[in-house]
Amino acid sequence: MANGNSFVIRGGNELFGKVDLHGAKNAVLPMLAAALLTKEEVIIEDCPHITDIDNMVELLREVGGEVFVEGRKIRVRGQARTNKISSRLEKTMRSSMFMLGALIATVGEVRLSLPGGCNIGARPLDIHIDGLSKLGAVCEERDGTVICHAKKLVGAKILLRYPSVGATENLILASVLAKGKTTLINCAREPEIVSLVELLRKMGAKIRGEGTSVMEIEGVDELGGASITPVADRIVAGTYLSALAITGGELVLRGANKKDLRTTLSAIGNVEAYADGIALHARAKRPRENEWLFEQVACDLTTGPYPLFATDMQPLLCAVKCFSSGTTVVRETVFENRFSHLREMQKLGANVRIEGDVAYLSKGDLHPGEMVANDLRGCAGLSVFAMGIEGESRVVGTKYVDRGYENFEENFKNIGCDILRE
Ligand code: UD1
Repeated sequence: MANGNSFVIRGGNELFGKVDLHGAKNAVLPMLAAALLTKEEVIIEDCPHITDIDNMVELLREVGGEVFVEGRKIRVRGQARTNKISSRLEKTMRSSMFMLGALIATVGEVRLSLPGGCNIGARPLDIHIDGLSKLGAVCEERDGTVICHAKKLVGAKILLRYPSVGATENLILASVLAKGKTTLINCAREPEIVSLVELLRKMGAKIRGEGTSVMEIEGVDELGGASITPVADRIVAGTYLSALAITGGELVLRGANKKDLRTTLSAIGNVEAYADGIALHARAKRPRENEWLFEQVACDLTTGPYPLFATDMQPLLCAVKCFSSGTTVVRETVFENRFSHLREMQKLGANVRIEGDVAYLSKGDLHPGEMVANDLRGCAGLSVFAMGIEGESRVVGTKYVDRGYENFEENFKNIGCDILRE
């Protein structure tokens, strides 16, 4: 990854060209944890080169997995052998939470320091722990560390109080090797979960109902090797679509799945898109001077668990709607602290008012300037926002984007954006 903690963006260019999407970060991360459930080899194709995955690979190695990264392919061999995770890794990434399900199912004990709050919200683990306890794990919290033990997990009926993505994934990972049947009620339905289940099924797991709110898992004695190409990254695809809506142009997103982008496309409003089975072809009119008002349509939207509007797309959609004539109303219901990007957009003239979990935004008198990112999708949102403003803007905080986007500035440069890292 390139050095330099800022993007310098000279906005105003249209975007044209082809972009290859990679596998979704949020599918690859739990798949890597799933690979620890078998001694045989698991191959995950099409993995992006991003820091969240580098850290997860290191984490797998710490607990005893042999991991080979060969270009976009990651091969994992060897079941987890230890539950020791260095605190550096545990603290740097939330995905270490997936170790809860995978390690309890294999090693029988896991210790995780509570992740605590992150920049977008508190992110507690109570739903994970409640579910694991129902499967027979004994969990306690001591001095900010969660310790869970289980000799043998036994299937159970688990009602999740909220369809948490991570908790659903953890409970799937914990129950595929449990004795008997587990039913998850009110579980998450994200495409990345469906993709994880596809891998587990290839490994020999017995699972039904993925993509719906009730899943049934019949425990098996052991799992075997398998290979998988994860679902494409719909948030990365949505990032390009948001940029296109702001700048105008024509993009071909190879590998994008139109179905998973339905809510994004309908919220963005002014991008025409059709899929040909291999790629998504997307087009938006170039907004001419003072004609933004006719190009962008304001909207009312509420983030929520899939199939509702994805919270990860919220900062990107806000960027688009800051170029709209009417007032867009955004209610963020998933994370309690996910509007910091709006305060930065405000510095560049966006018309923003925040009242609790609701933001009202519309186009102001936009001008270039400097913005400071606070989280991964926020950084992407600020960058595409700057792409729509004539003149030179700076977005500080490239390390966030590197967590989830491979070669962010290279890829945008290739489709016509004037962006560099310094
Ligand atoms: C995952 C995604 C993240 C996305 C989010 C919501 C990964 C690695 N990350 O995160 O990109 O933004 O889904 O789609 O896949 N909650 C509790 N108790 C719990 C668990 C969650 O209160 O035990 C709350 C969280 O604080 C949050 C909400 O539930 O307010 C959603 O969290 P969750 O779906 O678990 O998100 P993650 O799995 O952390």
